Amino acid sequence: MCGIVGYIGKNQAAPILLDGLEKLEYRGYDSSGIAVINGQDINVAKAKGRLQVLRDKTGDGNDVKGTIGIGHTRWATHGEPSDVNAHPHLSQSGRFAVVHNGIIENYLPLRERLTAKGFEFVSETDTEVLAHLFEYYYKGDIMDAMIKVIDRVEGSYALGVLCSDYPDSFIAVRKASPLIIGLGEGENFIASDVTAILKHTRNIHYIEDNEIVVLTRDDVKVYNTDKEEIKKDVFTVDWDISAAEKGGYPHFMIKEIEEQPKALRETISPRIKDGNIVLDDVKLTAQDIKNINKIFIVACGSAYHVGVVAKYVIERLCRIPVEAQIASEFRYCDPIVTKNDLVVVISQSGETADTLEALKVAKSRGARILSIVNVVGSAIANASDDVIYTWAGPEIAVATTKAYSTQLAVVYMLAIYMANKLGTITGGQYKKYINELEALPDLVAETIENKDQLAYLASKFYNCKSIFFIGRNLDYAVSLEGSLKLKEISYIHSEAYAAGELKHGTISLIEDGTLVIAIATGRDLFDKTVSNIKEVTSRGAVVMGVTTKGKTMDGIADHVIEIPETSDIFLPSLSVVPLQIFSYYVAAEKGCDIDKPRNLAKSVTVE
Ligand code: BG6
Repeated sequence: MCGIVGYIGKNQAAPILLDGLEKLEYRGYDSSGIAVINGQDINVAKAKGRLQVLRDKTGDGNDVKGTIGIGHTRWATHGEPSDVNAHPHLSQSGRFAVVHNGIIENYLPLRERLTAKGFEFVSETDTEVLAHLFEYYYKGDIMDAMIKVIDRVEGSYALGVLCSDYPDSFIAVRKASPLIIGLGEGENFIASDVTAILKHTRNIHYIEDNEIVVLTRDDVKVYNTDKEEIKKDVFTVDWDISAAEKGGYPHFMIKEIEEQPKALRETISPRIKDGNIVLDDVKLTAQDIKNINKIFIVACGSAYHVGVVAKYVIERLCRIPVEAQIASEFRYCDPIVTKNDLVVVISQSGETADTLEALKVAKSRGARILSIVNVVGSAIANASDDVIYTWAGPEIAVATTKAYSTQLAVVYMLAIYMANKLGTITGGQYKKYINELEALPDLVAETIENKDQLAYLASKFYNCKSIFFIGRNLDYAVSLEGSLKLKEISYIHSEAYAAGELKHGTISLIEDGTLVIAIATGRDLFDKTVSNIKEVTSRGAVVMGVTTKGKTMDGIADHVIEIPETSDIFLPSLSVVPLQIFSYYVAAEKGCDIDKPRNLAKSVTVE
């Protein structure tokens, strides 16, 4: 969850690096830095705080001369945010500068060994070990030094490395952390993701773990650790630049909420052909599906909440047992997973360390891995047997919305696809679900239109100290996401609770004025949830109800938000929208940093 960028070309590097880092700030933003080669010297500028501090320090980069450089924006893991701990890190002699995203897990013994050999460390970071290791192994050939360094270190890395002996090239490598190579005209780039270089080039290389990249102004060569050159395909990224810009919205988050209908259409439409769901990316045969003993769904954060929805939907349609697990729990519980199980891994970034490691645990036990990912070529996608991409486009706001929604859509398609193969739904149901799925983006668009009521409710409740979200079954699954959205961006404490469970203890927290947001959209459980609403109103709670247009909560809830009707299994895609928008306006009322909430990062690529 740091961002790295690198440039070599004919233009001054520093301004280009700073622009690239700005697009990567969502990956971490507690400090930043750049290093640029000018003649024989490597000039470094680093600053604690947001990127603007570095811009101010370097005259927007104009004070740092040179046409080859690397840059870094940090989310601290080892060592607090500070100028000294900010990357790039220099080797003892200043000959090497390194930017790094990931964790060097054996940095302590390496640091001890290097210290014993006379190297002096100035920072608390694991990354500085890399800078000194390059110095230690360097005997005049930087490729040899790189091979030795990556052979010695354990952990994850995306590295950009400058060496003052090489004023016309720089090198890069990745292992388990994201890194792409940008291919320009007389200039070349490295970046943690494409948004950092999209304005310069759309042509990129994806590289595999421990493939070493040598970039000059006129070409990019990729080698394995035997120094054998590897030919790489060129991919053309078709994201439009505006997709990675705010486009006139005050925040990326509201832009991405509004983009949900488009993201859903782009995710759903290519997979419905001639009235059938077509999952080209999935090599699961009908027989494979029939042989599935159990499905595990493994993810983190909002992606995990999609997994909870998926449990209810897949079990309802396919009658296969499904267990949704938090990735960081799954990987350490010695899971009972066998080769007859399907493990569905959900991740927007495709780089979340907990999720990637959980995937490896499942794979080691012989399970088949199907991942639902928003970033092509990401580590999780590459490690899976099957991948179903969400086509949400770049999601910049740390709090996910459109990626969450498109993940739901993929879950629906997967469930309907499998149920059709299993024969656990009729032909009529299959057709009905597909028709409703195709109509879903328009229903989401209709739901988004209700922004004014939510802005009003946010203005009434933004001073709450604690808010409860309750629901049953699929509504409970959505309450988890509603609660997290609110916490993430408004910093208001909130708790999601199974509505039927509240009375077993936690209802003791309900007092006069406590806000309870009750999601009651499911047809069969509406009356049960209404009973739970009455339990809390009778104890002084104020209730904001979310239900479908066909039901009434008059006299039951103090405020009612209505969403359009559709089959129960699709209702999470609609009921989550008012919760996203409510949280957005609450955070706006509180003046929070909505796109970059405190303490968070868009993708956490460390444990
Ligand atoms: C958290 C993000 O760090 O990681 C959440 O703040 C996200 O929004 C979670 O849901 C999982 O990330 P990913 O990329 O694996 O979906």
